[in-house]
Amino acid sequence: MSENNIYPVSSEVAKKSLLTNDQYLSDYAESIENPESFWNEKGKILDWITPYTKVKNTSYAPGQVDIKWFEDGELNVSVNCIDRHLATRADQVALIWEGDTPDQDANITFQMLYTQVCQFANALKSLGIKKGDVVCLYMPMTPEAAVAMLACTRIGAVHSIVFGGFSPDAIAGRIIDSNAKLVITADEGRRGGRTVPLKGNVDEALTRDGTNCVEHVIVLKNTGADINWQAGRDIDWTEITDTQPTDCTPETMNAEDPLFILYTSGSTGTPKGVLHTTGGYLVYAAMTFKYVFDYQEGDIYWCTADVGWITGHSYLVYGPLANGATTLLFEGVPNYPTTARMSEVVDKHNVTLLYTAPTAIRALMAKGDEAIAGTKRSSLRILGSVGEPINPEAWQWYYDKIGDKRCPIVDTWWQTETGGILITPLPGATDLKPGSATRPFFGVKPALVDNEGNILEGAVEGNLVMLDSWPGQMRTLYGNHDRFEQTYFSTFDNMYFTGDGARRDEDGYYWITGRVDDVLNVSGHRMGTAEIESALVSHPKIAEAAVVGVPHEIKGQGIYAYVTLNSGEYSTPELYAEVKQWVRKEIGAIATPDILHWAEGLPKTRSGKIMRRILRKIATGESDQLGDTSTLADPSVVEQLIKENQEIQ
Ligand code: WT7
Repeated sequence: MSENNIYPVSSEVAKKSLLTNDQYLSDYAESIENPESFWNEKGKILDWITPYTKVKNTSYAPGQVDIKWFEDGELNVSVNCIDRHLATRADQVALIWEGDTPDQDANITFQMLYTQVCQFANALKSLGIKKGDVVCLYMPMTPEAAVAMLACTRIGAVHSIVFGGFSPDAIAGRIIDSNAKLVITADEGRRGGRTVPLKGNVDEALTRDGTNCVEHVIVLKNTGADINWQAGRDIDWTEITDTQPTDCTPETMNAEDPLFILYTSGSTGTPKGVLHTTGGYLVYAAMTFKYVFDYQEGDIYWCTADVGWITGHSYLVYGPLANGATTLLFEGVPNYPTTARMSEVVDKHNVTLLYTAPTAIRALMAKGDEAIAGTKRSSLRILGSVGEPINPEAWQWYYDKIGDKRCPIVDTWWQTETGGILITPLPGATDLKPGSATRPFFGVKPALVDNEGNILEGAVEGNLVMLDSWPGQMRTLYGNHDRFEQTYFSTFDNMYFTGDGARRDEDGYYWITGRVDDVLNVSGHRMGTAEIESALVSHPKIAEAAVVGVPHEIKGQGIYAYVTLNSGEYSTPELYAEVKQWVRKEIGAIATPDILHWAEGLPKTRSGKIMRRILRKIATGESDQLGDTSTLADPSVVEQLIKENQEIQ
């Protein structure tokens, strides 16, 4: 291999794994040469009510993008995640719940999960929720979050989960866009010793114009906090669920019926409602879970993601449960109440497969051995990373300290849009290089193209695209197929554009270099610069704003905001704090700018377009590499900004 820093598959790992490198190579070749027959076979990882006879029917043709997999098959997701396991593993734990503090936990078997899901599904039906209705979930990380998701799938309702850290306005926007009929929430959530006013935020969201599509709010009494109660609208989870029958006939769903909507940020405009459908999504989530984590009977799997993100959908709930795996759902954060909490949870539940994010790893790494103090972690077998590029130092620390140099790291590259993992090592097959997501999963056909869309061969850097569809691919943007085509298929004809840049090395390994569009990745959370800018300019004192990403030691990227005030307003420390708070309130804490740069003016072209390229360079202190500034309307603006930046640093 071409680099020095290589971790070959150890004989120990090879012996125990599902796949060898030779198997990977031949199965991969088969999956690309004969996708029909490959997926025809792999689709059998699920139980189908009506088996499919058609496998792949997909087109990336300009103006006619259309993606269908297993299109005449019928199935039910909750049956695949629960019912079909009851014959062999009714008493096996399906869900381990670990609370925010170590004294709170629970084990839920497949049998218990079946009963809870059926009862809650019946509760939803009693409120008139039926196939195709959209249900918005704004939930804490308690078992009920998974129960609510699965109950929706049982009756064919489409869930739309909003991350519990989002603001009332963000909730309202998503409710309006998806025309949600019902909201499911809790009085409060808990996280890292603090409480989150979930019901209060929903109450406020529902005061916004356009949210009257919501008929009811089901409220889980989680902390028991005092909350407002709107009689007629608000319904207590326990009251409506406990008396329901413990069986619920599953709805027969077509493979292409919608399963869920999940909003994510793009480079422009409001968040986009990514739509995933039933059959292809679940086949792909189940398949990737099995092979990427080398899942085997007896494994205890822990994914630290929140259900509000795609990782929480595919690899906390659907992928593991479709495989009959035991999945751990953690309410808290990796470093509370002690820095070693993550390692303690691993030991407490004998976790064998751990899937977390680089930002968490870097935060723990900053504390050194405190993060593993008093723990063994000897149950661990495989480590996973997701959400952003993992820098080699963090990779090394994760490998050495958390995994005790025994456990392969699968650095999994994917997106909300892709439904499941696309580029990743496979534990028994792939020699690892720290920082590389390595090679494509079965059926995935990546390519690198230049800005004109020419496919680049060999060891090279370019825009990362996919040349063909895979079953887990999103089908559309909810209610806006034109925007779907525009966003993902118009940059390069006949290709899915990921928005990421990547390098490919001599061994064909991919190294994701990060977004090439105006999308930020802050602590693994995806945010559009446009969204943050629009939150900023909605402040009455702000005239104009431009947001760029800057490297941040823990978060990966930090938010650097240039802000121009209305004339007559002055930048004060109070206003600095107020503006940060404003964005927090408008979007959520994750969007809070790290740095505000009060700017008299922004560099613009003569036609008035803000030159972000220049703003990025100034923010990162690379003002010696500004490139061509000759098209600027007023070059003196740049000198001023550089001077101010030096004062900020
Ligand atoms: C963006 C997608 C995938 C689920 C969580 C994030 C970045 C994700 C990696 C990785 C380098 C990564 C990309 C991608 N990203 N995983 N292993 N290495 N970058 O999903 O919120 O849709 O964000 O996250 O930039 O486009 P998301």
